Amino acid sequence: MLEGARILVVGGGSGIGFAVAQAAKGEGGHIAIASTSPEKLAAAAGRLGGAETFRLDITDEAAVQAFFANAGDFDHIVTTAGDWGKARRGPFVEIDMADAEALFRVRFWGAAILAKHGSAHVRPGGSITLTSGMSAFRPQKGSVMATAMAGSIEHLTYGLAVELAPIRVNAVFPGGVATEIFAGLPDNMRKAEEARFASQPLPRIAEPGEVAQAYLYAMKGHYTTGQIIKVDGGGELAG
Ligand SMILES: NC(=O)c1ccc[n+]([C@@H]2O[C@H](COP(=O)([O-])OP(=O)(O)OC[C@H]3O[C@@H](n4cnc5c(N)ncnc54)[C@H](OP(=O)(O)O)[C@@H]3O)[C@@H](O)[C@H]2O)c1
Repeated sequence: MLEGARILVVGGGSGIGFAVAQAAKGEGGHIAIASTSPEKLAAAAGRLGGAETFRLDITDEAAVQAFFANAGDFDHIVTTAGDWGKARRGPFVEIDMADAEALFRVRFWGAAILAKHGSAHVRPGGSITLTSGMSAFRPQKGSVMATAMAGSIEHLTYGLAVELAPIRVNAVFPGGVATEIFAGLPDNMRKAEEARFASQPLPRIAEPGEVAQAYLYAMKGHYTTGQIIKVDGGGELAG
């Protein structure tokens, strides 16, 4: 059902977004990937065996508007864009509120800007899929603002699903995913993260391709909208 579909993956140059692009291309989709780094996009397009690439910062509303005016229409829009802001971890009472505010810039405000301008460029039957994380539902100590930010995407999804219907709007909430960022952690931190996921029902971190399946469903499930798709190896229930 993705055969011939034009699919925009913002964040498709790496990690989960790249895995979504790869899986969608495997089902016959025409892939466009977008993010801030042209070099990363060019390398990813090579690894995909071809894709349109667009330099795009989704926090820049004028740029997003201009992008859609030039790039045309899509069947599906996915965003996995995220940065790893300074306010993710640390005692709440010591938090720098400017850093806390910045945490929302790409993942919340960027997603909102993308939906605002992208919605006029989604073809009939199409969808928008956002990304957050299971920290929304299983907060860790020292992650107040990251938890709040992750949770904000849930309700952005609900609001958009009602507002933009019949465009379908869903969000994928992964648990731990072994993307490049994870591989790049210092040894002790990576081991600590692996240990954190070892006691959940599926006792390991996900591969990006496993999480990508949820995005494919969000695109292809024509009666599915306003849903939070949790891909966490059962971690919300136990572990
Ligand atoms: N990996 C995990 O364990 C995990 C778990 C739960 C949730 N998540 C969430 O899933 C999302 C993707 O994670 P990931 O591991 O795939 O990370 P990633 O590899 O760092 O991917 C994020 C992508 O976002 C792009 N990006 C950053 N700022 C942007 C902007 N302003 N405009 C457009 N694109 C932008 C980056 O490309 P450029 O550098 O080229 O801009 C990058 O390709 C993140 O939001 C993350 O919080 C990840």
